[in-house]
Amino acid sequence: MHPVHGSVLTRDPDRAASLLRAGNLVAFPTETVYGLGADAYNANAVAAIYEAKSRPRDNPLIVHVATTRQLRRLASSIPPLARGLIEAFFPGPLTLILPRHPELPAVTTGGLDTVAVRMPAHSMARAFLAACDTPVAAPSANVSGRPTATTWQAVLDDLRGSIACLLRDDGQAAGMESTVVDCTRSRPVLLRPGVVGLETLRQVAPSIVARQPVSGEPARSPGMLYRHYAPHCQVRLVRKPGEAVPGAAAAFIGLEAVPKPTAFGAVRICADAEDYARALFRFFRRCDRLGISDIYCQTTDPTGIGRALMDRLIRASGHVRSATSAAVPQSQLAQQAES
Ligand code: TXA
Ligand code: MG
Repeated sequence: MHPVHGSVLTRDPDRAASLLRAGNLVAFPTETVYGLGADAYNANAVAAIYEAKSRPRDNPLIVHVATTRQLRRLASSIPPLARGLIEAFFPGPLTLILPRHPELPAVTTGGLDTVAVRMPAHSMARAFLAACDTPVAAPSANVSGRPTATTWQAVLDDLRGSIACLLRDDGQAAGMESTVVDCTRSRPVLLRPGVVGLETLRQVAPSIVARQPVSGEPARSPGMLYRHYAPHCQVRLVRKPGEAVPGAAAAFIGLEAVPKPTAFGAVRICADAEDYARALFRFFRRCDRLGISDIYCQTTDPTGIGRALMDRLIRASGHVRSATSAAVPQSQLAQQAES
């Protein structure tokens, strides 16, 4: 355990849990990305999460549990269509939207009458959540709008000084967030593509539909409205590596080799979509440190984790509302972007 600018940096889940139980903010690793946690029933601690992240107050948090027993005081009921998903995917990188239990403070759910719940599979996260002995509200541990924190160093870069503790893990995580599925409607709705692919969910919930943005309808997942995941540099989407314009202030990330790699300030060629997902946010942050001005990102097939990858790339590029880029197929924008 070492204090880093007022934050305890530790690998001890019990130490981190005791700080959380005392009402503090604790960042912790999961199998997806790092979370910024507080006791879900402590309204003051949860309010501090929004402060630390500069997160809009209407953007609800995911509540993390160690056991399905903890769901009883989080959700007022478990809709039948959620049961199969819980059985198949908990613990794991899937978040379910359920009707909210009245005991849960409104601040935790951004004032909504629903609650997002997830049971991580990551062993250190599980030890931490078990030791907390209370559900833990936690958004991703990055400043709002910035690339998601996928390493403990990224957590410190964004939140140094505003967290009491960082539970540190040196292993590799998926690098992309959990899949969010709304279970409060007549059929399950995919609100945010994530680590669990739509095709995989369909095997358990064949009636699942991907969210279709309807203009005028209130957002079901408020967080999806904001520009997100963005580095300071401009993200530009390209279908082929050859479309990337080389230069010392240009970077490329994708699945295929780029011509003239040495003419770029940074290059990352990924082995497959999983590797791309793992590398993306870390690469964004590295490009910011290097003073890169343009990051060319190769688009991918939007299946499996590729769907989440394309969603994040489109949002990071700022192309959510304008479909001006020839690089992004119109059909993909229509499917994945929220109006
Ligand atoms: O992998 C993950 O999900 C990570 C780790 C830490 O668990 N967490 C994460 O949290 O990505 P965050 O806050 O960055 O994203 C949560 C998403 C947001 O888009 C939020 O709007 C949505 O889930 N959400 C939370 N509660 C909701 C609710 N009651 N109804 C609809 N959407 C909700
Ligand atoms: Mg986030």
